[in-house]
Amino acid sequence: MRQTRTPETFRVKSFGCQMNVYDGERMAELLGEQGMRAASEGEDADLVVLNTCHIREKAAEKVYSDIGRLAKAGTPMIAVAGCVAQAEGAEIPRRAPGVDIVVGPQAYHNLPELVRLAKQGQRAVDTDMPIASKFGALPERRRQATSAFLTVQEGCDKFCTYCVVPYTRGAEVSRPWTAILDEAKSLVDHGAREIILLGQNVNAWAGGDDKGRDQGLDGLIRALDALPGLERIRYTTSHPNDMKESLIRAHAEVPKLMPYLHLPVQSGSDRVLKAMNRSHSSKSYLEIIERVRAARPDIAISGDFIVGFPGESDAEFEETLGIVAAVNYSQAFSFKYSARPGTPAAEMDQQVPGEVMDERLRRLQALLNTQQLAFNQASVGRRTEVLLERPGRKPGQLVGKSPWLQSVHLETEAAIGDLVEVEILSAGPNSLAGAELMRVGPSGHAAKSPGLGSGLPGGNPRVAAFEGQPA
Ligand code: 5AD
Ligand code: SF4
Repeated sequence: MRQTRTPETFRVKSFGCQMNVYDGERMAELLGEQGMRAASEGEDADLVVLNTCHIREKAAEKVYSDIGRLAKAGTPMIAVAGCVAQAEGAEIPRRAPGVDIVVGPQAYHNLPELVRLAKQGQRAVDTDMPIASKFGALPERRRQATSAFLTVQEGCDKFCTYCVVPYTRGAEVSRPWTAILDEAKSLVDHGAREIILLGQNVNAWAGGDDKGRDQGLDGLIRALDALPGLERIRYTTSHPNDMKESLIRAHAEVPKLMPYLHLPVQSGSDRVLKAMNRSHSSKSYLEIIERVRAARPDIAISGDFIVGFPGESDAEFEETLGIVAAVNYSQAFSFKYSARPGTPAAEMDQQVPGEVMDERLRRLQALLNTQQLAFNQASVGRRTEVLLERPGRKPGQLVGKSPWLQSVHLETEAAIGDLVEVEILSAGPNSLAGAELMRVGPSGHAAKSPGLGSGLPGGNPRVAAFEGQPA
């Protein structure tokens, strides 16, 4: 391995899921605490951390082209973190000698020590999954965006036959109640107005509260609801079998819990679901959706789908289109099946040809896009609260989120982090355009926006130009 000088600047590049984004932020905080500085836009960093994703082949292979590019550019120190690091470990520096550090998702609290080893030209590979969680060894949360991720649960015991997560992230572990609430307080103190609770099976979260009572995710959500300064709570991603009645009830009862549920079904065919080891049927999934909608009629439902699982027939794929039609999704993610080394499905006969998968994905996405557009169009003319999250493309424009996770563009003098009441004027496939009616104070107390007349529709709303770009 190479010997390098102490890195002064770093860049963390995260790929894949939201948990990787969260882990990337925490690695950046950790390196910052060591006296390193995040490289600014366009500046070459001394240390680049590639925080990788292993879920599909394309994502995993991308790592090697990125490493090649960084090595060619003369990056002094390259670290591979995340799920590819966990899955391939010491194989990575063998295949790509430019790599100095390999660190798995449960070991990144050791990053400073690995940097020290790498600097001395020593082996710096850590893919341990220690019993003691990394979280206790990480620094306190710092300045936060309006919407902040908070990992509450990691790992998966479900072993869907196509999925690498149980191998790369390990067994299901719930973080303790107090650690989560402390981190949530810290996030809010540092500017977060929305918290998105993360877990590979977030609705399987379980633990004892500060009084020793058993709690599920709904208990955690109810405790967060009482946190002053926090406006919105979301959670992702959930498994149908962990969708307990108490969590469904929370959607009816907890004011800060947003009307949005990401509940992957993967396929509409019971034979395929069984081969996937999903342990739910299309019928039991639809029953859950019905109960969730009874609790919260306006809830937006999102999901994940895989087309071309080994042995999936045309008729079975049609059943997937059928369940999509039955649920009516506001948003969804769909993927071609990708055989992952070490998973049972990779060994199955009857792998589906690429062209068949392409055609199925095209048809599925066409249907999902139609549903998403219809969902957005149904918002036009409605008044809704928008939490402002980032600048828009045009001066004076900000972009925020509706309760249903739609991006809303508007012209406003309000600030990022404010809640504003907005009339939705137009809708595209990926975002909405609105006009501000009122500034909303903390936790839903209306405060009239300055210079906006009566605050009623038609009372001089400033109209934002519609931007149709993806969120
Ligand atoms: N191939 C394709 N898609 C996959 N997913 C997980 N594993 C695979 C795979 N091997 C999808 C599932 C999951 C989402 C995060 O990624 O739909 O819900
Ligand atoms: Fe993978 Fe299934 Fe676990 Fe989700 S529930 S992480 S798809 S094994």
